[in-house]
Amino acid sequence: MSILEISSQLINVLVTVEDEIALVKINRPKALNALNNDTLSDLNKIFDCIAEDDSVRGVIITGEGKGFVAGADIVQMQGYKSIEGRKYAALAQMIFNKIENLEKPVISAVNGYALGGGCELSLSCDIRIASTKAVFGQPEVGLGVIPCFGGTQRLPRLIGSGIAKELIYTGRQVKAEEALYVGLVNKVVEPELLIEEAKNMMKTILKNASLAIGFAKVAINRGLEMDIDNGLELEKDMAALSFATDDKDEGMRAFVEKRPAVFKNK
Ligand code: CAA
Repeated sequence: MSILEISSQLINVLVTVEDEIALVKINRPKALNALNNDTLSDLNKIFDCIAEDDSVRGVIITGEGKGFVAGADIVQMQGYKSIEGRKYAALAQMIFNKIENLEKPVISAVNGYALGGGCELSLSCDIRIASTKAVFGQPEVGLGVIPCFGGTQRLPRLIGSGIAKELIYTGRQVKAEEALYVGLVNKVVEPELLIEEAKNMMKTILKNASLAIGFAKVAINRGLEMDIDNGLELEKDMAALSFATDDKDEGMRAFVEKRPAVFKNK
């Protein structure tokens, strides 16, 4: 099914495609875009579709209103006991893994509250750009639970275990500048420039060979879970795949001929 067809079926997510970039906007502003089942299901469907659609080469995720995503839906989780809580975590983890493993670059443009599952959603993206209004945090222990949409695993891997433990144990909210300081975000911009900045960065990325970007993403993501020797083995294998592409022939020929490369993503 095409992105257009899928997008008409979504409840809490809006999707547009321009310049080969899908802009995925979480659109449940009354609840600060909290992730209920409908929203998670929308994300699942749209990321399946984006994975299959060759006309989309990069993705930007953002939120409508003053929230990016203010977490998992607390109202929905209120009645959950152990088994339901585990199932909910499993569902979100499966979808966030899909985002993390998509062989296309994904940028989160964090416009506002990115708390709990919202911070975790941004962590499943390759790059985070924050507006000056963005606020990050993992407040789960204040609700009697732990981050379980990937936060206990991805946050320490990104910013180190000391700061991650401080944020997870205290539940403290962190504004954009501090998020930049601890390496949680790549860049901070004024709110009105957020989407433009994310698009510009994505356009810079997409000037390069898409298959090579996908292979680099696999090597980085999987390599982070391996010891260095196995990671370097994987790097050689992904390099071998990149050397097999038409884009490698074009990229190197264009360099020698002193002209810009025209990649076909083949
Ligand atoms: N779930 C459900 N509803 C939420 C929500 C959430 N995570 N966050 C906000 N909302 C709702 C509020 O209940 C409120 O709805 P009503 O208007 O119907 O009362 C609406 O969104 C607006 O929120 P506030 O009135 O609270 O707005 P505010 O500006 O005063 O405060 C806020 C903003 C600090 C983000 C506050 O809403 C808040 O603390 N939200 C909860 C954040 C949180 O704890 N997230 C973690 C959830 S657990 C999780 O994500 C876990 C995980 O790994 C399982």
